[in-house]
Amino acid sequence: MSRSIESVAVLGCGTMGSGIAAASAAAGCKVLMLDISTEAVERGLAAVAEDHRNLVETGTFDADLAKIADYDWICEAIVEDLPTKRELFERVEPLRKDGSVISSNTSGIPLSDITEGFPDRLRNDVAITHFFNPVQVMKLFELVPGEDTTAEVIEAFSSFGANQLGKGVVNAKDTVNFIGNRIGCFFMLSGLHLAKSFLINGMSQETIDGVLGKPVGLPPTGLYGLIDLIGLDVMDLVGKNLEVNLPADDIGRAYTELPQIEQGMLGRGQLGRKARALGGFGKVEKLEDGSKKKLTFDLRNAEWRDAEPADLEGVPADLGAVIFEDSLAGELAWQIFGGTLRYAADLVPEISDDVVNIDRAIKWGFNWALGPFEMLDHLGPARVIERIEAEGGDVPAMLQVLRDAEASSFYSADGSQYLGLDGAYHDVPAEG
Ligand SMILES: NC(=O)c1ccc[n+]([C@@H]2O[C@H](COP(=O)([O-])OP(=O)(O)OC[C@H]3O[C@@H](n4cnc5c(N)ncnc54)[C@H](O)[C@@H]3O)[C@@H](O)[C@H]2O)c1
Repeated sequence: MSRSIESVAVLGCGTMGSGIAAASAAAGCKVLMLDISTEAVERGLAAVAEDHRNLVETGTFDADLAKIADYDWICEAIVEDLPTKRELFERVEPLRKDGSVISSNTSGIPLSDITEGFPDRLRNDVAITHFFNPVQVMKLFELVPGEDTTAEVIEAFSSFGANQLGKGVVNAKDTVNFIGNRIGCFFMLSGLHLAKSFLINGMSQETIDGVLGKPVGLPPTGLYGLIDLIGLDVMDLVGKNLEVNLPADDIGRAYTELPQIEQGMLGRGQLGRKARALGGFGKVEKLEDGSKKKLTFDLRNAEWRDAEPADLEGVPADLGAVIFEDSLAGELAWQIFGGTLRYAADLVPEISDDVVNIDRAIKWGFNWALGPFEMLDHLGPARVIERIEAEGGDVPAMLQVLRDAEASSFYSADGSQYLGLDGAYHDVPAEG
């Protein structure tokens, strides 16, 4: 039986649910928005463009849950709490119609935990549909099947995501934090720890953000600016989830706890942009004359000071070139950005069967100019391997595959082919 999605019931209308509802209504779907209270739904409805509200019905879980029987896709986007999600799935399962598909938008709870003990009907029809925030802007849509999810259900989500919502679909596995956040959060959490020795050596946070921005093809938020955007509380929760669910030998285990000063910030509510006046690693202060001043929370002495420009003198403008520079900036780029590339290169096939899904997830979810494997190609994989070995490190799995295959790059034929785990080149699948 092929499935088609023409209507969407969104359960939970916070940041993500309201975005998914807005995107679905914009695609012309009939949408049901439900939440715990009328107030919560009304707040969520504000995210839907006025022109599309005629397609949207609203209600509460207690009064209107039975209405989901009229919808093709039941999309759960409530709080990130396993028992709460399971309880809602239990209420929904007997109410949804045969042929409907159901998903969770969890950022990191394994699907196997959400659906454990549920009947086959649900286990066949369920997936994780992981959107990125803001839903209507970010291209990435990670699609994660469960052990028993049928191919036609995945096909229905994939085709709806690509064709109706215009997203870039990435096929991920049911592993902690999936693809984008597994690698993106490693960059941030390892970055907080590894940056300490550079701060001690006199490098400012502005310079650290500057080096870990444009010179390596990342957005200008770099490291601290990105965490300010996401929130230190979210990073702490991500770390705790990683501590529980990362494989025992994963090098990310060394970084799951926030460093001491950052823990103090978390305790004071100094979480980032959302903390407004309390700020995060930075904040903007409004002066009496109406002008604004940028301040930096200096991690070297835990005090606020005026923000200063990044010192990027001597940092090469050529994309990625800084990583091989014999300088403090070069060492920072090699350790934090290069460390993330090495981490990503060790995660095939654990989180993805191929390099293409990883590159797409990082470009579409974190706005990197090049995905990790594209960047390794740009830097020269042989040169990267040489440096790893010179430092006595282990060559990551995918770089080893490349070396064993006597290949010189992860992509060939102008990017139309990628190197597989079998050491042969395969056609890059079309985007969508
Ligand atoms: N915010 C992000 O950047 C982001 C990105 C990807 C995935 N996610 C995931 O999406 C889901 C929703 O996140 P969000 O950021 O939209 O959260 P949110 O806090 O903005 O919204 C959560 C919604 O859940 C409802 N809710 C609260 N307690 C509930 C309960 N006991 N039972 C049922 N509903 C309840 C709230 O009324 C609210 O509307 C989470 O699983 C989160 O991990 C978030």
